Amino acid sequence: MSQPSGPGDPVLHLRRVRKSFRSSGSGGSARRVVAAEDVDLVLRRGEAVALVGESGSGKSTLARIVLRLERPDAGELLVDGVDMLRREPRGASLEYRRRVQMVFQDPFGSLNPVHDVAHHLVRPLLRHRRATRADAPKQALELLRTVGLEPAEEFIHRRPYELSGGQRQRVAIARALAVEPDVLVADEPTSMLDVSIRLDILGLFDRLKRERQLALLLITHDLASARYLADRVLVLFQGRIVEDGATHDVIERPAHPYTRALLAAIADQEASPHPLVAPKLSPAVLSEGCPFRSRCADAMEICAHSDPAPRAHEGRRLRCHLYPAAAPAGVA
Ligand SMILES: Nc1ncnc2c1ncn2[C@@H]1O[C@H](COP(=O)(O)OP(=O)(O)O)[C@@H](O)[C@H]1O
Ligand SMILES: [Mg+2]
Repeated sequence: MSQPSGPGDPVLHLRRVRKSFRSSGSGGSARRVVAAEDVDLVLRRGEAVALVGESGSGKSTLARIVLRLERPDAGELLVDGVDMLRREPRGASLEYRRRVQMVFQDPFGSLNPVHDVAHHLVRPLLRHRRATRADAPKQALELLRTVGLEPAEEFIHRRPYELSGGQRQRVAIARALAVEPDVLVADEPTSMLDVSIRLDILGLFDRLKRERQLALLLITHDLASARYLADRVLVLFQGRIVEDGATHDVIERPAHPYTRALLAAIADQEASPHPLVAPKLSPAVLSEGCPFRSRCADAMEICAHSDPAPRAHEGRRLRCHLYPAAAPAGVA
Protein backbone atom coordinates (compact mmCIF):
# COMPACT_ATOMS: atom_id res chain seq x y z
CA MET A 1 0.00 0.00 0.00
CA SER A 2 3.01 2.29 0.36
CA GLN A 3 3.89 4.38 -2.67
CA PRO A 4 6.79 6.77 -2.94
CA SER A 5 5.66 10.37 -2.84
CA GLY A 6 7.19 13.76 -2.20
CA PRO A 7 6.70 16.69 0.17
CA GLY A 8 3.25 18.24 0.16
CA ASP A 9 1.62 15.13 -1.28
CA PRO A 10 -1.61 14.07 0.43
CA VAL A 11 -1.04 11.04 2.63
CA LEU A 12 -4.40 10.68 4.29
CA HIS A 13 -7.76 12.20 3.47
CA LEU A 14 -10.94 12.03 5.53
CA ARG A 15 -13.74 12.75 3.10
CA ARG A 16 -17.28 13.77 4.08
CA VAL A 17 -16.96 11.94 7.38
CA ARG A 18 -19.88 11.75 9.79
CA LYS A 19 -20.06 10.27 13.25
CA SER A 20 -22.70 10.51 15.93
CA PHE A 21 -23.08 8.82 19.29
CA ARG A 22 -26.13 7.85 21.25
CA SER A 23 -26.09 9.67 24.53
CA SER A 24 -28.50 9.03 27.35
CA GLY A 25 -30.17 12.33 28.18
CA SER A 26 -31.81 13.27 31.46
CA GLY A 27 -34.91 11.24 32.19
CA GLY A 28 -33.50 8.25 30.31
CA SER A 29 -34.27 9.63 26.85
CA ALA A 30 -31.66 8.70 24.24
CA ARG A 31 -30.50 11.26 21.72
CA ARG A 32 -27.80 11.51 19.09
CA VAL A 33 -24.75 13.64 19.72
CA VAL A 34 -22.94 14.81 16.60
CA ALA A 35 -19.19 14.33 16.95
CA ALA A 36 -18.30 14.77 13.24
CA GLU A 37 -20.47 16.34 10.58
CA ASP A 38 -19.37 16.39 6.94
CA VAL A 39 -15.68 16.61 7.84
CA ASP A 40 -12.98 16.95 5.20
CA LEU A 41 -9.42 16.69 6.46
CA VAL A 42 -6.30 16.25 4.32
CA LEU A 43 -2.92 15.41 5.84
CA ARG A 44 0.11 16.06 3.65
CA ARG A 45 3.72 14.95 3.83
CA GLY A 46 5.86 17.45 5.76
CA GLU A 47 2.84 19.45 6.90
CA ALA A 48 1.43 19.97 10.38
CA VAL A 49 -2.28 20.47 10.78
CA ALA A 50 -3.67 21.68 14.09
CA LEU A 51 -7.18 20.76 15.11
CA VAL A 52 -8.40 23.33 17.61
CA GLY A 53 -11.69 23.68 19.42
CA GLU A 54 -13.11 23.63 22.90
CA SER A 55 -13.71 20.47 24.90
CA GLY A 56 -16.37 18.25 23.35
CA SER A 57 -16.01 19.71 19.84
CA GLY A 58 -14.99 16.33 18.39
CA LYS A 59 -11.20 16.58 18.20
CA SER A 60 -10.46 13.19 19.74
CA THR A 61 -13.20 11.54 17.71
CA LEU A 62 -11.47 12.66 14.50
CA ALA A 63 -8.13 11.44 15.83
CA ARG A 64 -9.70 8.09 16.67
CA ILE A 65 -11.20 7.84 13.19
CA VAL A 66 -7.79 8.59 11.62
CA LEU A 67 -6.23 5.91 13.87
CA ARG A 68 -9.08 3.55 13.02
CA LEU A 69 -10.04 3.11 16.64
CA GLU A 70 -13.45 4.42 15.67
CA ARG A 71 -15.44 3.75 12.52
CA PRO A 72 -17.32 6.70 11.01
CA ASP A 73 -21.03 6.31 10.20
CA ALA A 74 -20.38 7.65 6.70
CA GLY A 75 -17.54 8.98 4.57
CA GLU A 76 -14.19 7.77 3.34
CA LEU A 77 -10.69 7.43 4.74
CA LEU A 78 -8.42 7.65 1.71
CA VAL A 79 -4.78 6.59 1.80
CA ASP A 80 -3.00 6.89 -1.54
CA GLY A 81 -6.46 7.36 -3.02
CA VAL A 82 -7.83 4.06 -1.64
CA ASP A 83 -10.70 4.01 0.86
CA MET A 84 -9.24 2.02 3.74
CA LEU A 85 -12.67 1.54 5.34
CA ARG A 86 -13.59 -0.57 2.31
CA ARG A 87 -10.23 -2.19 1.72
CA GLU A 88 -9.88 -3.26 5.37
CA PRO A 89 -13.50 -3.29 6.56
CA ARG A 90 -12.86 -5.42 9.63
CA GLY A 91 -10.22 -3.14 11.11
CA ALA A 92 -6.84 -1.68 10.37
CA SER A 93 -4.07 -3.94 9.09
CA LEU A 94 -0.69 -4.06 10.81
CA GLU A 95 0.66 -2.03 7.89
CA TYR A 96 -1.97 0.70 8.41
CA ARG A 97 -1.15 0.84 12.11
CA ARG A 98 2.51 1.17 11.23
CA ARG A 99 1.85 4.09 8.90
CA VAL A 100 -0.41 6.00 11.29
CA GLN A 101 1.10 6.39 14.74
CA MET A 102 -0.05 8.17 17.87
CA VAL A 103 1.46 10.17 20.71
CA PHE A 104 -0.84 10.44 23.70
CA GLN A 105 -1.50 13.27 26.10
CA ASP A 106 -0.28 11.45 29.18
CA PRO A 107 3.28 10.17 28.68
CA PHE A 108 3.16 8.28 31.98
CA GLY A 109 -0.06 6.43 31.20
CA SER A 110 1.17 5.45 27.75
CA LEU A 111 4.37 3.78 28.97
CA ASN A 112 4.38 0.52 30.90
CA PRO A 113 5.91 1.17 34.34
CA VAL A 114 7.43 -2.30 34.65
CA HIS A 115 9.45 -2.09 31.44
CA ASP A 116 12.53 -0.06 30.64
CA VAL A 117 12.95 2.29 27.69
CA ALA A 118 14.70 -0.40 25.63
CA HIS A 119 11.66 -2.65 25.85
CA HIS A 120 9.33 0.12 24.67
CA LEU A 121 11.45 0.72 21.57
CA VAL A 122 12.59 -2.82 20.70
CA ARG A 123 9.08 -4.23 20.79
CA PRO A 124 7.63 -2.20 17.89
CA LEU A 125 10.86 -2.58 15.92
CA LEU A 126 10.50 -6.37 16.05
CA ARG A 127 6.73 -6.52 15.72
CA HIS A 128 6.77 -4.43 12.58
CA ARG A 129 9.96 -6.08 11.30
CA ARG A 130 11.92 -2.85 11.18
CA ALA A 131 14.93 -4.52 12.81
CA THR A 132 16.38 -7.94 13.57
CA ARG A 133 16.84 -9.05 17.14
CA ALA A 134 20.56 -8.43 16.70
CA ASP A 135 20.35 -4.81 15.60
CA ALA A 136 17.20 -3.67 17.43
CA PRO A 137 19.18 -2.42 20.50
CA LYS A 138 21.42 -0.28 18.27
CA GLN A 139 18.38 1.18 16.51
CA ALA A 140 16.75 1.88 19.87
CA LEU A 141 19.78 3.96 20.88
CA GLU A 142 19.63 5.82 17.58
CA LEU A 143 15.95 6.61 18.18
CA LEU A 144 16.79 8.10 21.57
CA ARG A 145 19.38 10.35 19.93
CA THR A 146 16.81 11.40 17.34
CA VAL A 147 14.47 12.62 20.07
CA GLY A 148 17.26 14.34 21.99
CA LEU A 149 17.74 11.89 24.88
CA GLU A 150 21.51 11.81 25.21
CA PRO A 151 23.67 10.11 26.18
CA ALA A 152 21.32 7.43 24.85
CA GLU A 153 23.21 4.67 26.69
CA GLU A 154 22.23 6.31 29.95
CA PHE A 155 18.50 6.52 29.14
CA ILE A 156 18.00 3.16 27.46
CA HIS A 157 17.75 1.14 30.69
CA ARG A 158 15.67 3.59 32.70
CA ARG A 159 12.11 2.88 33.65
CA PRO A 160 9.33 5.44 33.11
CA TYR A 161 9.40 6.62 36.76
CA GLU A 162 13.10 7.42 36.39
CA LEU A 163 12.30 9.98 33.69
CA SER A 164 10.83 13.47 33.82
CA GLY A 165 7.52 14.19 32.08
CA GLY A 166 9.29 15.71 29.10
CA GLN A 167 11.71 12.78 28.84
CA ARG A 168 8.81 10.33 28.98
CA GLN A 169 7.07 12.17 26.16
CA ARG A 170 10.31 11.97 24.14
CA VAL A 171 10.35 8.19 24.68
CA ALA A 172 6.72 8.00 23.52
CA ILE A 173 7.67 9.97 20.41
CA ALA A 174 10.69 7.71 19.79
CA ARG A 175 8.42 4.67 20.06
CA ALA A 176 6.06 6.13 17.46
CA LEU A 177 9.00 6.90 15.15
CA ALA A 178 10.43 3.39 15.50
CA VAL A 179 8.11 2.03 12.82
CA GLU A 180 8.75 4.93 10.40
CA PRO A 181 5.20 6.19 10.17
CA ASP A 182 3.86 8.56 7.51
CA VAL A 183 1.32 10.12 9.84
CA LEU A 184 1.76 11.11 13.47
CA VAL A 185 -1.32 11.99 15.48
CA ALA A 186 -0.64 13.88 18.71
CA ASP A 187 -3.61 14.51 20.99
CA GLU A 188 -2.73 17.35 23.39
CA PRO A 189 0.90 16.13 23.57
CA THR A 190 2.15 18.97 25.78
CA SER A 191 -0.85 19.80 27.97
CA MET A 192 0.35 17.63 30.87
CA LEU A 193 3.90 18.93 30.73
CA ASP A 194 5.51 21.83 32.55
CA VAL A 195 5.03 25.07 30.66
CA SER A 196 8.82 25.47 30.60
CA ILE A 197 9.37 22.36 28.47
CA ARG A 198 6.34 22.53 26.17
CA LEU A 199 8.20 24.55 23.60
CA ASP A 200 11.05 22.00 23.52
CA ILE A 201 8.60 19.22 22.70
CA LEU A 202 6.83 21.31 20.05
CA GLY A 203 10.27 22.10 18.62
CA LEU A 204 11.01 18.38 18.45
CA PHE A 205 7.77 17.73 16.53
CA ASP A 206 8.66 20.55 14.16
CA ARG A 207 12.11 19.15 13.46
CA LEU A 208 10.76 15.63 12.92
CA LYS A 209 8.11 16.94 10.57
CA ARG A 210 10.76 18.56 8.40
CA GLU A 211 13.46 15.87 8.63
CA ARG A 212 11.14 12.90 8.17
CA GLN A 213 8.49 14.57 6.04
CA LEU A 214 5.88 13.45 8.54
CA ALA A 215 2.26 14.40 8.16
CA LEU A 216 1.41 15.70 11.61
CA LEU A 217 -2.05 16.03 13.12
CA LEU A 218 -1.79 18.08 16.30
CA ILE A 219 -4.83 18.21 18.50
CA THR A 220 -4.87 21.08 20.91
CA HIS A 221 -7.14 23.51 22.67
CA ASP A 222 -4.14 25.83 22.81
CA LEU A 223 -3.81 28.23 19.88
CA ALA A 224 -0.28 29.21 20.89
CA SER A 225 0.89 25.63 20.17
CA ALA A 226 -0.97 25.69 16.88
CA ARG A 227 0.63 28.99 15.95
CA TYR A 228 4.07 27.63 16.73
CA LEU A 229 3.86 24.27 15.00
CA ALA A 230 1.05 24.14 12.47
CA ASP A 231 1.08 25.05 8.81
CA ARG A 232 -2.71 24.85 8.74
CA VAL A 233 -5.34 25.31 11.41
CA LEU A 234 -8.71 23.61 11.41
CA VAL A 235 -11.22 25.05 13.84
CA LEU A 236 -13.76 22.56 15.10
CA PHE A 237 -17.14 23.44 16.59
CA GLN A 238 -19.67 20.76 17.49
CA GLY A 239 -18.20 18.26 15.05
CA ARG A 240 -17.94 20.71 12.18
CA ILE A 241 -14.77 22.17 10.73
CA VAL A 242 -15.99 25.75 10.70
CA GLU A 243 -12.74 27.26 9.44
CA ASP A 244 -9.75 25.70 7.64
CA GLY A 245 -6.87 27.80 6.40
CA ALA A 246 -3.19 28.69 6.61
CA THR A 247 -2.22 29.23 10.26
CA HIS A 248 -1.12 32.82 9.76
CA ASP A 249 -4.35 33.76 7.94
CA VAL A 250 -6.64 32.07 10.43
CA ILE A 251 -4.92 33.57 13.47
CA GLU A 252 -4.29 37.06 12.07
CA ARG A 253 -7.58 37.39 10.18
CA PRO A 254 -10.11 34.93 11.58
CA ALA A 255 -13.13 34.75 9.27
CA HIS A 256 -15.62 32.60 11.16
CA PRO A 257 -17.39 34.27 14.11
CA TYR A 258 -16.51 31.25 16.26
CA THR A 259 -12.79 31.55 15.45
CA ARG A 260 -12.97 35.23 16.37
CA ALA A 261 -14.65 34.37 19.69
CA LEU A 262 -12.03 31.71 20.39
CA LEU A 263 -9.17 34.13 19.71
CA ALA A 264 -10.79 36.83 21.83
CA ALA A 265 -11.18 34.38 24.72
CA ILE A 266 -7.49 33.55 24.46
CA ALA A 267 -6.49 37.22 24.36
CA ASP A 268 -8.54 37.72 27.54
CA GLN A 269 -6.84 34.75 29.12
CA GLU A 270 -3.40 36.17 28.31
CA ALA A 271 -4.41 39.48 29.85
CA SER A 272 -5.63 37.89 33.08
CA PRO A 273 -3.80 35.49 35.39
CA HIS A 274 -6.77 33.13 35.63
CA PRO A 275 -6.87 30.04 33.43
CA LEU A 276 -9.44 30.03 30.69
CA VAL A 277 -12.64 28.34 31.74
CA ALA A 278 -14.34 27.06 28.63
CA PRO A 279 -17.98 28.07 28.49
CA LYS A 280 -20.36 25.24 29.34
CA LEU A 281 -21.48 23.84 26.05
CA SER A 282 -24.88 22.49 25.35
CA PRO A 283 -24.24 19.12 23.68
CA ALA A 284 -24.32 18.97 19.92
CA VAL A 285 -27.80 17.52 19.60
CA LEU A 286 -29.22 17.15 16.10
CA SER A 287 -31.26 20.23 15.32
CA GLU A 288 -31.93 22.68 12.56
CA GLY A 289 -29.77 25.64 11.72
CA CYS A 290 -26.20 26.63 12.47
CA PRO A 291 -25.14 25.20 15.84
CA PHE A 292 -23.17 28.35 16.64
CA ARG A 293 -26.06 30.75 16.08
CA SER A 294 -27.04 31.21 19.73
CA ARG A 295 -23.53 32.42 20.56
CA CYS A 296 -22.95 34.29 17.30
CA ALA A 297 -22.80 38.09 17.16
CA ASP A 298 -23.45 38.01 13.40
CA ALA A 299 -26.39 35.57 13.33
CA MET A 300 -28.90 36.19 10.56
CA GLU A 301 -32.38 34.90 9.73
CA ILE A 302 -31.02 32.07 7.56
CA CYS A 303 -28.83 30.75 10.41
CA ALA A 304 -31.90 29.64 12.38
CA HIS A 305 -33.01 27.08 9.81
CA SER A 306 -29.98 26.19 7.69
CA ASP A 307 -26.72 24.57 8.83
CA PRO A 308 -24.16 26.14 6.49
CA ALA A 309 -22.34 23.67 4.22
CA PRO A 310 -18.57 24.04 3.81
CA ARG A 311 -17.62 26.65 1.22
CA ALA A 312 -14.39 28.03 -0.21
CA HIS A 313 -13.55 31.66 0.51
CA GLU A 314 -10.23 33.45 -0.06
CA GLY A 315 -8.14 30.32 0.28
CA ARG A 316 -10.07 28.93 3.25
CA ARG A 317 -12.93 26.55 3.85
CA LEU A 318 -15.65 28.03 6.00
CA ARG A 319 -19.01 26.92 7.33
CA CYS A 320 -20.80 30.22 7.75
CA HIS A 321 -23.62 32.02 5.96
CA LEU A 322 -21.63 35.28 6.04
CA TYR A 323 -19.74 33.88 3.05
CA PRO A 324 -21.27 32.99 -0.31
CA ALA A 325 -22.07 29.29 -0.67
CA ALA A 326 -21.21 28.97 -4.37
CA ALA A 327 -17.61 29.98 -4.77
CA PRO A 328 -16.58 31.39 -8.14
CA ALA A 329 -14.58 28.99 -10.30
CA GLY A 330 -10.88 28.93 -9.56
CA VAL A 331 -11.08 29.50 -5.82
CA ALA A 332 -9.27 26.73 -3.98
N1 LIG B 1 -17.76 6.75 22.85
C1 LIG B 1 -18.61 7.78 22.98
N2 LIG B 1 -19.89 7.58 23.36
C2 LIG B 1 -20.77 8.60 23.45
N3 LIG B 1 -20.44 9.90 23.19
C3 LIG B 1 -19.18 10.16 22.81
C4 LIG B 1 -18.19 9.12 22.69
N4 LIG B 1 -17.03 9.69 22.29
C5 LIG B 1 -17.27 11.01 22.17
N5 LIG B 1 -18.56 11.30 22.48
C6 LIG B 1 -19.19 12.62 22.43
O1 LIG B 1 -18.83 13.22 21.19
C7 LIG B 1 -18.54 14.60 21.36
C8 LIG B 1 -17.11 14.88 20.93
O2 LIG B 1 -16.21 14.28 21.85
P1 LIG B 1 -14.62 14.31 21.67
O3 LIG B 1 -14.30 13.86 20.30
O4 LIG B 1 -14.03 13.55 22.79
O5 LIG B 1 -14.31 15.87 21.83
P2 LIG B 1 -12.95 16.65 22.23
O6 LIG B 1 -11.82 15.71 22.03
O7 LIG B 1 -12.91 17.83 21.31
O8 LIG B 1 -13.11 17.07 23.65
C9 LIG B 1 -18.81 14.92 22.82
O9 LIG B 1 -20.13 15.41 22.94
C10 LIG B 1 -18.66 13.57 23.49
O10 LIG B 1 -19.42 13.50 24.68
MG1 LIG C 1 -10.25 15.13 23.38
